[in-house]
Amino acid sequence: MRQVLVSLLVGWVCLSYGVAEATEPETVRPIKVLVAYHSLSGNTEKMAQAVSEGARGVAGAQVTMKRVGQVTGEELLGADAIVIGSPVYWSNMAGEVKTFIDSWQFKFGVFPEFKLKNKVGAAFATGGQISSGKELTMLSILAAMLGNQMIVVSGGGAFGASATTEGNSPGIDEQELAAARDLGRRVADVAGLVVRGAKP
Ligand SMILES: Cc1cc2nc3c(=O)[nH]c(=O)nc-3n(C[C@H](O)[C@H](O)[C@H](O)COP(=O)(O)O)c2cc1C
Repeated sequence: MRQVLVSLLVGWVCLSYGVAEATEPETVRPIKVLVAYHSLSGNTEKMAQAVSEGARGVAGAQVTMKRVGQVTGEELLGADAIVIGSPVYWSNMAGEVKTFIDSWQFKFGVFPEFKLKNKVGAAFATGGQISSGKELTMLSILAAMLGNQMIVVSGGGAFGASATTEGNSPGIDEQELAAARDLGRRVADVAGLVVRGAKP
C-alpha cells in the first residue's frame, strides 16, 4: 500500500512538473528595429515617425529612431532590422545617408565577416517632385543592404514607402503616412519570423 502511495505521489509530481513546463510562458527577446534617417526640413522625419509607429504596433518590437549620424555601433550591430530613410538629393540618397552606410565599414568593420548578414533591411524616401529620384534613392539604399547580405523587404510601395513633398503635393499626407506605417509593420513582422522562426 505504501509503495502504491509513493508511486502515485511520484507520478503526480512528474505530471505536475511536465504540465508546468509545457504551460510556462516562453521568454521571448524583443525584436530590435532601428529606424535611421536624414532630414533637414522635417519631411523624412515625419515618415521615420510613421515607420516607427508601424513597427511598434507589432508585438515584441522595440524601436530605436535616430538620425543617421547618431547611430551607435551597438544600435547598428544589435538591430534585427534596419530601416533607412533619405530625402532625394539630385535623384539619389543624401550624402549624409551615404556617409552613414559607408561608416558601416569605416567605423564598424562589417566586412569581410558580413556583420549585418540576415538582418532585415528596408528603405523610405521623400522627394520634392513626383518622379525625380525617390525609387532610385530607395533602390540605392537597398543595393547597399544587399551587398551586406541583408534580407531586403519592401512595404508601402514596391521598393519601400515614399512621399512627394513639394509642388501640388506639399508635405506628407495621410496616405503617405499609412504607407510608411505599412513598411514599419512589415519590417517588424519579417524580423520576427527571422529571429523566432515561423510558427506552425
Ligand atoms: C540639394 C537638394 C537636392 C534635391 N534634389 C531633389 C531631386 O533630385 N528630386 C526631388 O524630387 N527632390 C529633390 N529635392 C527636394 C527634397 O528631396 C525634398 O524637399 C525632401 O522632402 C526634403 O526632405 P526633408 O524635409 O526630410 O529634409 C532636393 C533638395 C535639396 C536640398
